[in-house]
Amino acid sequence: MTIKKAISELGLGKLVAIPTETVYGLAAPINEIELIKKIFELKERPLFDPLIVHVTSIEMAKRYTSEWSLEARKLANHFWPGSLTIVVPKSELVDDLITAGLNTVGLRCPDHLITREFIEKLDCGVAAPSANKFTKTSPTRSEHVRKYFDPSDVYILEGGPCSVGIESTIVKVEQGKVLLLRPGMISAEDIERETGLKVSYVDQKKLSQTPGGMKTHYRPDYPLVLTKRKLTILDIEKLEEKFQGKGESIYFSTSAPLVAREIYKVLHKSLAKNSIFKIIDLSESLESFSEKKQWDGIINRLEKAACLVIE
Ligand code: TXA
Ligand code: MG
Repeated sequence: MTIKKAISELGLGKLVAIPTETVYGLAAPINEIELIKKIFELKERPLFDPLIVHVTSIEMAKRYTSEWSLEARKLANHFWPGSLTIVVPKSELVDDLITAGLNTVGLRCPDHLITREFIEKLDCGVAAPSANKFTKTSPTRSEHVRKYFDPSDVYILEGGPCSVGIESTIVKVEQGKVLLLRPGMISAEDIERETGLKVSYVDQKKLSQTPGGMKTHYRPDYPLVLTKRKLTILDIEKLEEKFQGKGESIYFSTSAPLVAREIYKVLHKSLAKNSIFKIIDLSESLESFSEKKQWDGIINRLEKAACLVIE
């Protein structure tokens, strides 16, 4: 019933917020260009930042690419459905508006039953960025989506809290090479171990010149400080002087998957009474971790969300 309703709402010109295992997406079928335009408008997202296309199978992915290479096949076979987006050359079915004029498209096969059914019923790829306003914190619960978008513009498919909690890992397959464009909870090590492919890192400086590589992103409504080491009393005093008020410290567990699942919920939560900034303290998490690469995605998001990072 809700999926039927979501599809009829598209017919009325609304977008649909879809639950995925990573974050909620702001979705429209790729053949509805007016609705795709509305994604950029409502999100206040610049047209140079391309959208990824969600599919339910490798068969469906092949419709949207002109070159399904050996590398793409291996990646999809191992990690789909799941939180890995694969950037490949696009087919004619994917409009330039979606890819911001690039000749490549990011394809992702989400692991969430409701959204899979939605895409299957439409029998069309669904373009969806995260369902937040541009540069703001991504939503991992339907109430986060509602903070940003009105019911008259966006129908929400309720799917409960997202189980992974940060956006998909993005890799680009280019001339037999696999480049990591955005770290996520599927790490470069996981990819190398499962597929035997070598993953190359893209120079962060170059990446900040590419769409979506912006330095400021995922920002909450208050100043956020990320610290990777234990702060002294003097450090805290200096911060309080800088921000002219009290700070609220949040400490995390040592399990990366658990932290990823909770992190955006913590950023969405308002400040405690009397505090005017938040400190995310990852010092203990980082001290005891053994699988360092598992934290890459979390640190990448927090470094962009924070206005100050203490190493
Ligand atoms: O987990 C996710 O990936 C979520 C859920 C909803 O699927 N989606 C998501 O979309 O995070 P978005 O738009 O917030 O982030 C996708 C990123 C953007 O930074 C965009 O610039 C980049 O992917 N991207 C999309 N297509 C690309 C392409 N052809 N080449 C390089 N980067 C691309
Ligand atoms: Mg986003």
